[in-house]
Amino acid sequence: MTRVLIRDLAQVASPAGRDAPLRGAALRDVEVIRDAYVLCVGGRIEAVGPMRELRAADVDVEIDGRGLSAIPGLVDCHTHACFGGDRVEEFSLRAGGATYEELHARGGGILSTVRATRAAAGEGSLAGALEEHVGWMRQAGTTTWEAKSGYGLDHDTELAQLRAVRDAGGIPTWLGAHTVPPEHADADAYLDFLLADVLPEAARIAQAADVFLERGAFDAGQARRYLSACRDAGMALRLHGDQFTESGAIPLAIELGARSVDHLEATGEAGVAALAASDVTGVLLPASALFLGRPMPPARALVDAGAAVALATDFNPGSAFCESLPLVCALAATQMAMAPEEALSACTVNAAHVLGRADRKGRLAPGFDADVVLVAAGDWRHLAYHLGGPVVACVVAGGQVAWKARA
Ligand code: NIG
Ligand code: FE
Repeated sequence: MTRVLIRDLAQVASPAGRDAPLRGAALRDVEVIRDAYVLCVGGRIEAVGPMRELRAADVDVEIDGRGLSAIPGLVDCHTHACFGGDRVEEFSLRAGGATYEELHARGGGILSTVRATRAAAGEGSLAGALEEHVGWMRQAGTTTWEAKSGYGLDHDTELAQLRAVRDAGGIPTWLGAHTVPPEHADADAYLDFLLADVLPEAARIAQAADVFLERGAFDAGQARRYLSACRDAGMALRLHGDQFTESGAIPLAIELGARSVDHLEATGEAGVAALAASDVTGVLLPASALFLGRPMPPARALVDAGAAVALATDFNPGSAFCESLPLVCALAATQMAMAPEEALSACTVNAAHVLGRADRKGRLAPGFDADVVLVAAGDWRHLAYHLGGPVVACVVAGGQVAWKARA
C-alpha cells in the first residue's frame, strides 16, 4: 500500500470531533495543529499530529509542507457541472439590466443550456465538457462533488448526464424537475412523463432527487408529487427552494424528510426557525446570490438559531459560473458574517453529510479518505481571506497528488 507523508506543515486544520452535521457553536470548532504532518496509507489517513510525534516511517512519497497548511479536501454538495455550451451572451444581457427570471420566461436561461446539453450529448462531447469543468473544480480544491442532471429534460439526455457524472467520479442527483421543456403542455404533463419514463432508470444511477420549487418552475404540490415518487424509488431528497420567493420549500422538505433545501435567499424568520428545529440541512450558495445580484441567504440567523448549514458553489452556466469553494468561503466571511471556521465546516463535514458521506469525507482524521488540500499560506484561514487569490498549492485525492500549482 502506498504511503504518502505530508510533513513540516505550518498548520493542519480540521473540524473537530466525529459528529455530523455540525450546528451552532460546534460549527466553529476547528482543531489546529501547528508544525504538523499528515500520513496517508492506501488512500486513507493513517495519522495526523505534530512533527515531534512523527515516528520514522518508510514512505513512498514525501510532500514538503513548509510554509503551507492542510485542510480536508473540499466537498461541493451542489453543482450543475454537467452542461454543454455556456451562457456568456445572456450574462452580457444581464449585465445590461435584463433579469434572470425575464430571460427564463422568454425561453432563454435554463432552456438555452438544455438545447446545448442535448446537442453535446448527441454528438458525444458531454463527457469532455464535464471533464473540463471537473478539472477546474479540482484546481480549486474540490475532491468530492455532486452534480445534477436537469439540462436534458428528455429521457436520453437526463440519463446521459447522470451516467457522465457517475463515470467522472461524481455523485449524481436527478434534477428532472428543473423546468418544463417546450415539448410538454404544462408542468403536470411533464411530471407524468418523468415519473413514468425516466424515474425507473434514473433511480438506478442517481443517489438523490432534486426539484426547482419556484414561481415559473414547479409549485409545492407538483414538487411533493415528484419527490414522493423519487423517495419511493429509493433516492434521497433535495430541493431548490426560496431562491426568489418563499413558495413552501422548507415545510415540504421537513414533511418529506429531505436531506437539504438549497438557496434560501428569500427565506424569512419563520423559515429560519422551522429549518433550525429540523434535521434538514440548509445549503447556502452565495456565489449564485452574488452572480444574480440577489440578497445573500440569512446565514448568521440560521447558524445562530442552530440550523445545520452547508456551503456550495451551485456551479452552473447561468446563475453561478463559479467552481471555487475558496471564493465561496470568502463570500461567506465577507457577505454573510460567517467565521472562516464556520465556512470550513460548512464546505467539508456538513457538505459531506448532505451527500451521505460524512463517515469518510470532510475531516483530516485517521480512517477518513486521504483527501487533503494544501493551502498556499502558513495560516489556513487564507482560504477565506485571500479573495479570488491562488490559495490552493496542492490537492491530494485518495492519497495521490491530483493537482499541484506551478512552482
Ligand atoms: O441553482 N435555480 C435553478 N437552477 C440553477 C440555475 C440553473 C441555470 O440557470 O442554468 C440554480 O441557480
Ligand atoms: Fe442549483
